[in-house]
Amino acid sequence: MRMILLGPPGVGKGTQAVTLAQAEQAAHISTGDILRAHVAQGTPLGKAAKEYMDKGLLVPDDVIMGLVKDRLQQPDAQNGYIFDGFPRTAAQAVALGQLLNEEELPLEAVVSLEASDELVVERISGRRTCRECKEVYHVKFSPPKVTGVCDKCGGELYQRDDDIETVVRKRLTEYHTKTAPLIEYYRAEGLLKTVDGTQSVQAVSQAIRKAIG
Ligand code: AP5
Repeated sequence: MRMILLGPPGVGKGTQAVTLAQAEQAAHISTGDILRAHVAQGTPLGKAAKEYMDKGLLVPDDVIMGLVKDRLQQPDAQNGYIFDGFPRTAAQAVALGQLLNEEELPLEAVVSLEASDELVVERISGRRTCRECKEVYHVKFSPPKVTGVCDKCGGELYQRDDDIETVVRKRLTEYHTKTAPLIEYYRAEGLLKTVDGTQSVQAVSQAIRKAIG
């Protein structure tokens, strides 16, 4: 499986990518997760990226493309990949096309998960993530058994710095102006499938599988 999951912040890209990647033994490539790992390690790249992320702005394209190139060359990606939260600009989409040609790993499908801004704000404001294993929960839709504690590893659950409502609104503006145009870009390439992201996690998962055949 070689695909992109497109969609606004909080629509459920990460939730779906994790299970799909496990089932297909494909690499789950989330540029947001890679950036957060740099932030947590305090690397120079992480320090620079945090300035953008905390404001809800996109990190510059050249930084992102360097990260993606390195990740795509790792062995697990040769078996397939699921991009989550990438590409996010026209420049990233064009650069990705060139990179995939060079690596001979052509894209098979682009799935656009769709939901209203109000729904994604509700999903993001209830999201909690494990500091240790990165498992994602929702206080209402998929709560942990014990508040604040990860079911899988017992780690502490936290709320992301960029999940406060003012920053989420800025992320949505960035999505609508810079990322949503990629829907038409990939439709023109004949790769686009759209899926209703407002359904339950399981129903979205089934709809993605149906869409990509
Ligand atoms: P990133 O980490 O990519 O964030 P995002 O795209 O804003 O997406 P999210 O992780 O917020 O949401 P998601 O769609 O994965 O939803 P999730 O599955 O967690 O990017 C963060 C920042 O990094 C960006 O703002 C930017 O600064 C930078 N960045 C990253 N990539 C970049 C790039 N390529 N270029 C430039 N900058 C970049 O679900 C959300 C919640 O809803 C969870 O609580 C979950 O449990 C719940 N949920 C999920 N599905 C359902 C469902 N079907 N029903 C009910 N609840 C559900």
